[in-house]
Amino acid sequence: MAYDYLLIEKENGIAILSINRPGALNALNPDMMKELKQATEDVSRDDGIRVLIITGAGEKAFVAGADIKFMQNLNPVEGRDWGILGQRVFRAIEELEKPVIAAVNGFALGGGCELAMAADIRLASEKAKFGQPEVGLGITPGHGGTQRLPRLVGEGRAKELCLTGDIIDAQEACRIGLVNHVYPADKLMDAAKTMARRIMQRAPVAVRYSKVAINRGMQTDIDTAMAIEADLFGLCFSTMDQKTGMEAFTHKEKPTFAGR
Ligand code: CAA
Repeated sequence: MAYDYLLIEKENGIAILSINRPGALNALNPDMMKELKQATEDVSRDDGIRVLIITGAGEKAFVAGADIKFMQNLNPVEGRDWGILGQRVFRAIEELEKPVIAAVNGFALGGGCELAMAADIRLASEKAKFGQPEVGLGITPGHGGTQRLPRLVGEGRAKELCLTGDIIDAQEACRIGLVNHVYPADKLMDAAKTMARRIMQRAPVAVRYSKVAINRGMQTDIDTAMAIEADLFGLCFSTMDQKTGMEAFTHKEKPTFAGR
């Protein structure tokens, strides 16, 4: 499907989704958000796609936030609807039962930082900048930032970022755990694809259940979370891949997983 605000390429099991609105540093608007929802559903259904990489088109921005000009004249009901739309789309990305890597190539501000946080793993270019600058616009973060940021970096650092609106560079984002690794700009996409390929060598069902176990477990108490892990761990023993993986280990061979 062709999109107005997204570019999608597929290569060898990896889908690369680029947010593409060059005139506005890839700022998010409702049409783009609906396209993102559709693209996420398409990726979910496409068995040929094993890993999703999300990045920003162009040199300068991942996503510079929600479109401020669009938000300027919203009434409270419209503001709430816009917040909920973004929350739902980012939640769908977070819940996608395939690994999602954000390759953050530039500004990831406001809704852009929130989109990156909906991914499983964040890799950043040395040029990337992160922040929740909404308080400088008279609003709070509205697409999950007040909830995902403290879960990722802890309450104190999340409050510092959300209350000051400060913008931090990639190294600082890495230091506080907001991103996993930082690369020179021209190496970022290769690094994201290399990580995707490493994940793709592993047993697909086990990769999927590992993500589900972490996602579900992080939202509940430890005993419920352990029960979720035990069930998914147990379910792995119904797969061919568990037999292949353990047999290969005992024969000192490299496993080739069938994905079932
Ligand atoms: N919304 C709408 N347009 C935006 C935008 C945004 N979030 N960010 C950038 N643009 C537009 C600019 O208006 C400009 O357009 P024109 O050429 O038509 O004027 C174009 O993109 C290029 O931007 P700049 O000229 O400002 O580029 P710069 O290099 O001087 O500055 C920047 C870059 C620091 C990222 C600056 O553009 C900026 O501060 N952008 C806004 C960042 C922001 O506050 N994001 C949070 C939005 S609120 C939010 O996201 C709420 C939420 O949680 C849902």
